[in-house]
Amino acid sequence: MSTTELLEAGQWTPLAAIALAAGLGTRMRSARAKVLHELAGEPMILHALRPLLASGADPVIVVVGHQAEQVEAVVRGAFSHCGSLRFARQAVQRGTGHAARCAMESLPPSFAGQVLITYGDMPRLQARTIGSFLRAHGESGAALSFISVELDDAGSYGRVVRDAAGNVAAIVEARDASPVQRAIREINTGVYAASADFLRSALGAIRSDNAQGEYYLTDLVAIARARGLTVKAFVARDFREFAGINSREELAAVNAEMRKLINARLMAAGVTLIDPDTAYIGEQVEIGMDTVIGPNVQILGRSRIGSGVRIDGTAWLSDVVIGDRSHLKIGIRAEQCVIGEDCELGPFAHLREGTELEGHNRIGNFVETKKAQIGYGTKASHLSYLGDARVGRETNVGCGVITVNYDGYDKHRTEIGDRCMVGCDTQLIAPIKIGNDVYVASGTTILRDVEDGCLVMSHHPQREKPGWTADWHQRHRGKGESGGSES
Ligand code: UD1
Ligand code: CA
Repeated sequence: MSTTELLEAGQWTPLAAIALAAGLGTRMRSARAKVLHELAGEPMILHALRPLLASGADPVIVVVGHQAEQVEAVVRGAFSHCGSLRFARQAVQRGTGHAARCAMESLPPSFAGQVLITYGDMPRLQARTIGSFLRAHGESGAALSFISVELDDAGSYGRVVRDAAGNVAAIVEARDASPVQRAIREINTGVYAASADFLRSALGAIRSDNAQGEYYLTDLVAIARARGLTVKAFVARDFREFAGINSREELAAVNAEMRKLINARLMAAGVTLIDPDTAYIGEQVEIGMDTVIGPNVQILGRSRIGSGVRIDGTAWLSDVVIGDRSHLKIGIRAEQCVIGEDCELGPFAHLREGTELEGHNRIGNFVETKKAQIGYGTKASHLSYLGDARVGRETNVGCGVITVNYDGYDKHRTEIGDRCMVGCDTQLIAPIKIGNDVYVASGTTILRDVEDGCLVMSHHPQREKPGWTADWHQRHRGKGESGGSES
């Protein structure tokens, strides 16, 4: 079996992967760890880890340090289904070489396979690139391999120094480079492969006598060469895949590139973006054919939008499922919701977590829903709050209906049956249950459960005082211009 076949069969004798993500990222000038900054609506680290998890490596060790708990929580939250995921701590950030050593220490001493190392600030690396790199590394028999690219402006990247024979001799960091070395255009991308045995012995040999006083992972190259081992640099063609983000400006540039690619892919698949420049759609989002997305729309997380959906514009949608042909009028915010087919939402509606619309629903202007299961054909067209509620099918929720779900300590549930007419300005004091075919008169405060088929009302008798308004003005004469004009 060739190496390729071994890889494809997932039988690359053991492969571990390490992603370094412990640094603060000083150049971001941020209180937040660099790898938590977002690209295409997702923390950078998730983009960086996806190709490693897809490579079949086991374990995939993420080295965390700065804001370790937050980084770990974000990664665990997104990849809870990945059994290969592990974390190693680097309590003090002493450089990439030291971070890699922390990861190796968490790998069982018996592990004798190959190890892939990358950085958590490389969000554009692709799984297929890792596959071909590992294959090439395996076939070359090199002790250490890495991916390099040629740049017109090598900036702050580590320079690949080659000897007279053209073999890789060292990687020299920009800050430590001589003017001649600085002029080198071939740079280190930060994707490495080596055997666990080599790493265990060589990582310990790295010293920190350099411009930053750090243990540089890149020193592995010179260490390998000094031991008479072969080091291979595989020169990749598309440098954009290897962008390592260090600053906000680089973050914005990569974000724009990713957004362009995502939008192009969606348009190629039959989605209309009325203004691609203001469509902000996450990499994991799926959108069906003939869906039309208006200006200023963000669709994030693992959202799935059906076919023939219309999103008129100005919407923020995260982790939502939207059924075919639904229409989102201007101004929708929706999060962790399932919206069925043929629904009509907004303008200006707020669908919070746990909202489930069965289909053919209307959630109109200034309606807020939360943990609300709403049956087929049911409508709440204006100015309502439906929280911790289950509403049946074909029910009409009138204007200003409120589920009074919170008593100051606990939340309580409201249940409303099928085919009800819930009149305007009704308050439902939860916990409460209303049967099927109930007619709630407008202005009712519901305190007790209501049986099927009832009319329910809590009206106060209406009273009138003839001539009262004129008396009122009389009493206030001389106080203002004309009573009631101020607010
Ligand atoms: C690094 C490389 C450089 C390469 C470039 C590619 C080194 C010394 N230099 O430089 O040759 O051209 O990436 O983008 O490796 N990290 C830790 N612990 C630490 C320090 C860093 O986990 O103590 C992590 C960071 O969180 C980051 C990654 O390692 O995700 C890379 O560190 P960074 O400081 O961005 O390295 P560069 O200066 O970009
Ligand atoms: Ca970097």
